[in-house]
Amino acid sequence: MTLAANINRETVPKHIAIIMDGNGRWAQSQGQERLIGHHTGVESVREALKAAQEVGVKFLTLYAFSMENWNRPKKEVEGLMDLLVRTIAGEVDELDASNVRIHTIGDIDGLPNNCSDEMAAACERTRNNSGVNLVLALNYSAKWEILKGVKSIASEYAKGNINLDDITSEKIDQVLSTSGIPDPELIIRTSGEHRLSNFLLWQAAYAELHFTEVLWPDFKQDDFFRAILDYQSRERRFGKVSEQLGKDV
Ligand code: IPE
Ligand code: IPE
Ligand code: MG
Repeated sequence: MTLAANINRETVPKHIAIIMDGNGRWAQSQGQERLIGHHTGVESVREALKAAQEVGVKFLTLYAFSMENWNRPKKEVEGLMDLLVRTIAGEVDELDASNVRIHTIGDIDGLPNNCSDEMAAACERTRNNSGVNLVLALNYSAKWEILKGVKSIASEYAKGNINLDDITSEKIDQVLSTSGIPDPELIIRTSGEHRLSNFLLWQAAYAELHFTEVLWPDFKQDDFFRAILDYQSRERRFGKVSEQLGKDV
């Protein structure tokens, strides 16, 4: 019996987000340059997407480049941008054919032009697709999007377009770059690191967190299924006590 067969299809998370970490260490452990790890990591993206399609995950968010990642050596940043453009350009036909809809979150305008153009074209091309929503977090920072959202709400308030009571949790959902995307029920981080690194801080309020020692380039479909099984073994209480769950008390 395969791992996927053990998954309860009724309670598969609608949205899984992954902090794809450990590419550099994977490459270095083999005496290779860090960029080789990033290149190999693209194969793991295919694995995660295939696994998501197999079990019916509707949203798969991948943390591909954080705002803090600009602080890496220039050569690595350039290599990552180049990889991004080439990967999207090379995969978009197949993604479109398999009904995947591509979205981006983050400050896309802050990416090099060829990168933001390629991303915008891929989003546009796949926008009528109804299969898995692949959300790429690029030049993303949770604090950045919260700050930007707070400013837009403050400006609406200053203009008298909204009242204080209009500022609700739902209103904040709407001003984030994830507007329209449900909160992730499960966040996976690879490579043995136990932190969120400025990823989906608002949206992660009730996410289950799954940490694995596996380095991202080694991540395979079974690792994805293992994370879902771990999620399904948890009791999500949302502040209640066990006895209340599934009842109207
Ligand atoms: C994750 O792998 C990919 C990106 C952040 C772009 P890393 O490059 O962070 O790999 P480690 O953590 O140095 O091993
Ligand atoms: C988080 O990984 C960002 C991405 C996976 C894109 P990092 O490797 O940049 O995070 P830190 O620096 O270890 O927190
Ligand atoms: Mg890292």
